[in-house]
Amino acid sequence: MITKPTIDRIMEATDIVEVIGEFVQLKKRGANYVGLSPFANERTPSFTVSPAKGIFKDFSTGKGGSAVTFLMELEKFTYPEALKWLAKKYGIEIEETQMSPEDKAEDNRRESLMIVSGYAAKFFHESLLDTDEGQSIGLSYFRERGFTNETIKKFELGYSPDQWEAFSSSAIRNGYQEEFLVESGLSVKRDNGTLYDRYRGRVMFPIHSFTGRVIAFGGRTLKTDKAVPKYVNSPESEIYHKSNILYGLYFAKKSIRDEDNCYLVEGYADVLSVSQAGIENVVASSGTSLTVEQIKLISRFTKNITILYDGDAAGIKASLRGLDMILEQGLNVKVVSFPDGHDPDSYVRKVGTAAFKKHIEENRKDFILYKTTLLLKDAAGDPIKRADVIREVVESIAKIPDSIKASVFIKECSHIMQIDERALLSELNKMRMAKAKKDSQQQANQASRNQPQYDDVAPPDELMYMEEMQGAPADPKTAIIDAQEKEIVRLLLLYGNKMINWDGIANTYIGPFMMLELNDVEFDIAACKQFVEIYRQEMDNGVLPDEQHFIHYPDKAIVDLTVNLLATKYILSENWYEMHKILVSDEQANMKATILGAIFHLKMHKVGKILENLRNELQKPNSDADQDILLNQYMHLKKVEKSISDYLGSVILK
Ligand code: UTP
Ligand code: MN
Repeated sequence: MITKPTIDRIMEATDIVEVIGEFVQLKKRGANYVGLSPFANERTPSFTVSPAKGIFKDFSTGKGGSAVTFLMELEKFTYPEALKWLAKKYGIEIEETQMSPEDKAEDNRRESLMIVSGYAAKFFHESLLDTDEGQSIGLSYFRERGFTNETIKKFELGYSPDQWEAFSSSAIRNGYQEEFLVESGLSVKRDNGTLYDRYRGRVMFPIHSFTGRVIAFGGRTLKTDKAVPKYVNSPESEIYHKSNILYGLYFAKKSIRDEDNCYLVEGYADVLSVSQAGIENVVASSGTSLTVEQIKLISRFTKNITILYDGDAAGIKASLRGLDMILEQGLNVKVVSFPDGHDPDSYVRKVGTAAFKKHIEENRKDFILYKTTLLLKDAAGDPIKRADVIREVVESIAKIPDSIKASVFIKECSHIMQIDERALLSELNKMRMAKAKKDSQQQANQASRNQPQYDDVAPPDELMYMEEMQGAPADPKTAIIDAQEKEIVRLLLLYGNKMINWDGIANTYIGPFMMLELNDVEFDIAACKQFVEIYRQEMDNGVLPDEQHFIHYPDKAIVDLTVNLLATKYILSENWYEMHKILVSDEQANMKATILGAIFHLKMHKVGKILENLRNELQKPNSDADQDILLNQYMHLKKVEKSISDYLGSVILK
């Protein structure tokens, strides 16, 4: 874990306007900055950044938080990744502790592998640009293929000298450990224990992680000899899991988000050429068939994938089935093919950027319709084949989770295939039903494996409903509790570390005063409960936590709660300071009413709830003794309720 002092240093250095400004064009408006939401398509800016509070709030999606939250939401970083990004930006050294020795060892190994890979990328890049051999062989090859200097730099392309030990011996000389050179696959160990280079005489394509670090390589041979493998790739390692990496994603992600579409190609060269042509939202699956992890990676940024096909019709047909997996993940798939066996790379080089873009625009077809047309053409005149085609197409449509979308495809396909829509629909429903049955069986099996004591499993719909309930309380009683508990949290946030100076109560801070009053109150809303616990803990440590403490708290529920309370439109709006001045001048009277009102309204509600429970208990058959005890409790609480109500009526002028 990153240490607290490091986190503090990062937070101190972080300028939220500067960080967000790297992704969103911000305009100053009063004390705040506004811009177009990067999370939604909008024309009028609803995305607000408050430098004073160090928070952002996106009113069109409800997202909000600190600079860290922003990076997590937008770049899909984990919490430590976001911190590391900021540390790098502000040149802060990261200190990590509290790891178990095993975790630490593993982390060190991963870090060592990345460092070795980073060194190798630099070595190959410099060999390409700065050595005679690199220039005359590697660089001239890239030039011939039309890659510009800019592309070569951006993707850190390189050249591995055609010598047995050029890289390995340089790495050893520079202190890199043999263990990591071998594990990363950059070097191979001979029987006699010495190392030789794996990628001799190849041009090198470094593969970058999601956060931009080099984690693997693809090395292309320059020989035309068929016996030599065209590409040699890094082996799987602790830092490189081929199935969840997409080549080029690091450079493409911003553009994927902006364009709300991801182009998918097959090879390294395709990514480079297409990107160089100005279509930067392009990634490659690197020759393997697409995996679910890769699709999920893309779907963090967009729900639209356009496949730029390479190769002949036979190859395309073979890959069609694999694409159902994308539909299953709820993404929209379009395809574009290229004439005469061209791949995207060769085609863009042949026709140039403008014609390439035009080709994509004009030939972009929806995957299902494309598949239908392609298969139908094949089955022309063969009724049995035709029946297979229909089944196969409906099978794809059945994978689409959104049933409205699916029915639109049914309609279009019925048109293309000249088949009654109802016949297709009934086929679709049959498949859906079979799938539902299979899924529920699987679920039941899984449930019985996980928790043998339960024999009924809640159907997924009910689970979803429960989740919704947690977000927004539908029951009015829960809504009141929700509002009252959040009001307490809001007051603690805004005024907890301000002094009280009321008649009779002075020289104490509002936070401890409230916490003392709330000692006997049990919070119902999970985040509020947690918030109050954190507050109490910090008080026990002798600190009064302020809003910054909660804005940067490493727990999403707490940050969300905090930001939602701090960043209402009202508070972030320009006249907040005006409002605040009014509050300050009026504080004596208002503050007391606000604070005590919040506390006692909440108490009143809690007492009401206990009374209601007691009433229910009293109506059940009880022993005389129990009935007496219950009745006594009831009478006592009635008095408490009355006194709170009197108090609220008399003291609080609200
Ligand atoms: P291609 O053969 O289409 O390569 O394989 P390419 O990238 O277009 O290369 P050029 O244009 O001939 O230079 C597509 C991808 O499949 C993987 C690589 O990721 C390649 O980019 N591949 C291919 C391998 O991993 N090993 C191979 O031997 C061949
Ligand atoms: Mn190619």
